[in-house]
Amino acid sequence: MRKEIHLEHSSLKYPLPEQFVQELSEELAFMNEYPSGGSYKTLSAKLAEYTDIAPDCILPANGSDEVIESITRAFGNRLILIPIPTFSQYEVSAERNGLNKKFVPCLEGHNYRLVYCEEDLKKASLIWICNPNNPTGSSIPREEIKRVLDIAPGIVAVDECNYEYLGESVVDLIEQYPNLAISRSFSKNFGLAGLRLGFAVSSSKNIVEIARYGQHFRVNKMAERAGIKVLKYLDYFQNIWQEIARTRDFFIAGLKGLNIMVLPSKTNFVLVDFTTEEKARKIWNFLRGEKVFTVAGWEQEFSGLDNQYLRFTISNQEEMSFVLELLKRFPENTS
Ligand SMILES: Cc1ncc(COP(=O)(O)O)c(C=O)c1O
Repeated sequence: MRKEIHLEHSSLKYPLPEQFVQELSEELAFMNEYPSGGSYKTLSAKLAEYTDIAPDCILPANGSDEVIESITRAFGNRLILIPIPTFSQYEVSAERNGLNKKFVPCLEGHNYRLVYCEEDLKKASLIWICNPNNPTGSSIPREEIKRVLDIAPGIVAVDECNYEYLGESVVDLIEQYPNLAISRSFSKNFGLAGLRLGFAVSSSKNIVEIARYGQHFRVNKMAERAGIKVLKYLDYFQNIWQEIARTRDFFIAGLKGLNIMVLPSKTNFVLVDFTTEEKARKIWNFLRGEKVFTVAGWEQEFSGLDNQYLRFTISNQEEMSFVLELLKRFPENTS
């Protein structure tokens, strides 16, 4: 029986290095001990080395979802700006904490641009930027981020959870902009989605503020040990990121060959425009019938995404070729 193909979550669809799994399994014997807690000195030092920043500008967390939650609680007291369509957790965290938010539509045709106006930027206490943006896959030019940082008196939070696919970061601007906070993750790039590990990068002053909203032991011991060890395997993961980028471009070209509209992507997923909700629902159902699972606009994983879109995470060449074959067989999609 053919196995299911899960393209709905954007976790890494490749196995972890065997040696790493072995190293981690040996850590199990030490799970009777507490994690380091607080600033997680050794882990923060590793992350600081990886990010090229001082360790006191780093705060490890239970996934970048926790970073989003803590930043929201620390800085979202007046007004939160959310550039839609985008990742839903900025909205969810704002709602959970009863905070005032404003959606700013940023997708014009298939072009996603930060169109924050000066008036909103001056009023807001927290402004979200997702780079590359989920679900559109768009990268945000550095100059656009700097424009927002220059105008906004509030905190500008840049979610760089998919940084490793894009290869561009604004971490180097932390010193210049005291209003900049960045969120990073180990879920999609280093394959640790199940373990939960992310981190915040900001000025040491902001880091103290963000830390106030999390628990002392916010990262469990296994995730702490994994974060310290996984960076040894950077070469292994870098090869995978390159392979994913090649497969993504192959998939995009295949879609275009079928006259299916797809947004350009700088990450490990692509957003496909099936032009109407009716058609998107038919294709979503057809693919599910073939055991291929994607995420749709109506599933509320994203804020402000129209229902004509489906997002496909990129897995390996074999699975993506199979998905293209299925789409080719679906007669209505090419009309
Ligand atoms: C843009 C973005 N930010 C944050 C997250 C959350 O990542 P984590 O698994 O580190 O909590 C996701 C997960 O899908 C995401 O797409």
